[in-house]
Amino acid sequence: MQQDGPVVVGVSGASGAPIAVKVLEALREAGCPVALVASEAGLEVVRAETGLDRAALARHAEKMYSDDDLGAAIASGSRPTRGMVVVPCSSSTAAKLALGLGDTLLTRVAHVHLKERRKLIVVPRETPMPTILLRHLAALSELGVVVLVASPAYYLQPRSIDDVTAYLAGKVLDHLGVEHRLYHGWKAEGG
Ligand SMILES: Cc1cc2nc3c(=O)[nH]c(=O)nc-3n(C[C@H](O)[C@H](O)[C@H](O)COP(=O)(O)O)c2cc1C
Repeated sequence: MQQDGPVVVGVSGASGAPIAVKVLEALREAGCPVALVASEAGLEVVRAETGLDRAALARHAEKMYSDDDLGAAIASGSRPTRGMVVVPCSSSTAAKLALGLGDTLLTRVAHVHLKERRKLIVVPRETPMPTILLRHLAALSELGVVVLVASPAYYLQPRSIDDVTAYLAGKVLDHLGVEHRLYHGWKAEGG
């Protein structure tokens, strides 16, 4: 992972907001600076699923940007970052990223990560996945984006929704190259 600049966390309007909050907490615990941007729908789902309003969410990041702030420093490729994760990633945002649309700060910064060939992770949550979403995710994967579907690892025998959330956040940190203690991997019998 590039060492300069913040990790950008983009929160769009899919279900799975607790994963985003867990990612933010773990990045802070790891001492990783975070630039946060949430879409309007993202803020709505965060409120519905975690009870956090915009101000409370902003406290989880070094800096939170408005989604209409297209002049923000992180909208430019000249501003270094350590990578970006869109968590959760709505079908609508996945479509915009696959098509190269950058009409909001979240989608613009993701586009910058594609053009600068930096680490970009998306965490979609939709089921069943329509063909159109699968096509967009395949296009993103072909561009080097990590498509980290919000699907539980039952083999780790989670005991609660918090275990599932921590596992998914841990997978995100694995792909950002940030150390964490969110989950322990599978240990086969006999080592
Ligand atoms: C409570 C709630 C849950 C939603 N869950 C999902 C979801 O799991 N996946 C998805 O793709 N869209 C979901 N949506 C719809 C998106 O929020 C909607 O398409 C929105 O326009 C996405 O905008 P954005 O991509 O700018 O965040 C949900 C909406 C609400 C209000």
